[in-house]
Amino acid sequence: MDFYEVIRQRRSIRAYRSDPVEEDRLLRVLDAARVAPSAANRQPVHFTVIRDDALRAKMVEVYSQQWFVQAPVIICACARPSEAWQRSDGKNYADVDLTIAMDHLILAATAEGLGTCWIGAFKQDKLRKLLDLPPELEPVALTPLGYPAEKPDARPRKPLDDMVEHR
Ligand SMILES: Cc1cc2nc3c(=O)[nH]c(=O)nc-3n(C[C@H](O)[C@H](O)[C@H](O)COP(=O)(O)O)c2cc1C
Repeated sequence: MDFYEVIRQRRSIRAYRSDPVEEDRLLRVLDAARVAPSAANRQPVHFTVIRDDALRAKMVEVYSQQWFVQAPVIICACARPSEAWQRSDGKNYADVDLTIAMDHLILAATAEGLGTCWIGAFKQDKLRKLLDLPPELEPVALTPLGYPAEKPDARPRKPLDDMVEHR
């Protein structure tokens, strides 16, 4: 797919087929996140790939939607603020770096014919316990990953003039 076509085709997918994601496809998607840029090239990101059936089923306690746990893969994307670059005014870039890596992952998944849905409304305390996350990792996003079982219409966007100012 042409790059702009990938961007246009991407949707948040909230229904998944149970077909497994092929290993080589999964690795390409994760590798797209790996090569993402980060402030001062610190790469303060960590991904947990959850495929184990029992663990995936328990993830419903973290985000209580059946479609979320029906996908064959769930990815937990964490930032590691202690490793991230900090601007001189103290701003920590861990979230920004994590978000760029996650967007690379999401677009690569789209190019591979796979669906994702950025999940921000998860229960952090339950996720930390379930995955036994060390304190230095901050979970920022979850996504299911799998073959879509729906083809949603594009959601509306503001016109360009509402977000861009030319000077
Ligand atoms: C930071 C962020 C958090 C989100 N959290 C959730 C979520 O918790 N649950 C959900 O179903 N969708 C979530 N979404 C998906 C958005 O609802 C979706 O991107 C938006 O409605 C536009 O639709 P589209 O992705 O299909 O273009 C989130 C998206 C982003 C970027």
